[in-house]
Amino acid sequence: MKVLTAYFSAEGTTAAKAADLSKAINSDIFEIRPVNPYTAADLRWTNPLARCNREKFGNRSVPVEGKITGFDQYDTVIIGFPIWYGCAPNVVNTFCSGYDWSNKKIVLFATSGGSGIGKTADRLMPYVKGGQIAGAKLITDSDELIEWVKGLL
Ligand SMILES: Cc1cc2nc3c(=O)[nH]c(=O)nc-3n(C[C@H](O)[C@H](O)[C@H](O)COP(=O)(O)O)c2cc1C
Repeated sequence: MKVLTAYFSAEGTTAAKAADLSKAINSDIFEIRPVNPYTAADLRWTNPLARCNREKFGNRSVPVEGKITGFDQYDTVIIGFPIWYGCAPNVVNTFCSGYDWSNKKIVLFATSGGSGIGKTADRLMPYVKGGQIAGAKLITDSDELIEWVKGLL
């Protein structure tokens, strides 16, 4: 069984968890990077005109740098990201739209500033058509993440 950990992280928190997880379960890893990297100003959600708000409220897709070669070979794809506005950031939706998820097991994990996982899985579903979301969890700790994922593989 071949597993991929794909993650987006704007400020490093999710990246650290994804790296720990990938090492512990021996998965491949792919960083979901927007073609235009986020600056600190882009992330300042308190500014109504900041890029993050324009993308969210304009319902914009966010082009992703690079493409995973041989996506077909993965049986399970773990997707990690920060919670933005209560769910997955638009760049994660755009990433998911670029692949065929038929018959794949999908595991979602997120970090946040305090929000729960909420309806994150439901909201991502249209972008992973044909795949099966086996679980979605908000995590704060790598060990907790690793144990939970191992139970789903
Ligand atoms: C644009 C933006 C929107 C956010 N929205 C939320 C939110 O709705 N709820 C929450 O608890 N945290 C929110 N956060 C905080 C992040 O989820 C949190 O800091 C996360 O751990 C960052 O992960 P990263 O370092 O991998 O980017 C938001 C952060 C940004 C930049």
